[in-house]
Amino acid sequence: MDNIILIGFMGSGKSSVGRYMHRKGYAFIDTDSYIEKKEKRKIKEIFATDGEAYFRSCETRALEEIIAEGKDDFVIAVGGGLVMTPANQPLLHKLGKVVYLRATVDTLLSRLKDDSNRPLLQGGTMREKIETLMEQREATYKKVADLVVDTDNRSFEHIYRIIKKHI
Ligand code: S3P
Repeated sequence: MDNIILIGFMGSGKSSVGRYMHRKGYAFIDTDSYIEKKEKRKIKEIFATDGEAYFRSCETRALEEIIAEGKDDFVIAVGGGLVMTPANQPLLHKLGKVVYLRATVDTLLSRLKDDSNRPLLQGGTMREKIETLMEQREATYKKVADLVVDTDNRSFEHIYRIIKKHI
């Protein structure tokens, strides 16, 4: 399949770049929104009521459904933790080319500091939470990616052009 899948940490700009590419003519899916629509409730509520493991099962189901529906030539932004479920990794490669939008902890922190919608960042010091999760995830983001794009201080247009050039 020929989709472009955007992976990366919360706040790395996956949804924003996806929406930008939608304005450039791509069909666009955001797995978080897809899941919220299916579940008819917010991610925050899913975590609070049914826990993270249930949310992760929703993510795998979402990928399977997108594949089964034969979605092609889409830009697909996936939740920051989706790649950490090993079963999802071959599904991403089946869907298309995987692009890791990378950002430094400082950039992520400045984008996420007032956020209250991401359950994994609530309570405690946000910088520490980002650093700890990033340590757990960075190697997997790199391993799964076909292309790594640094996003710090880059416009959506610039990021879009880099993706277009390499994919
Ligand atoms: C998560 C990232 C979120 C969302 C959920 C869990 C994560 O998506 O899926 O809160 O584990 O990193 P974004 O990366 O779009 O914020």
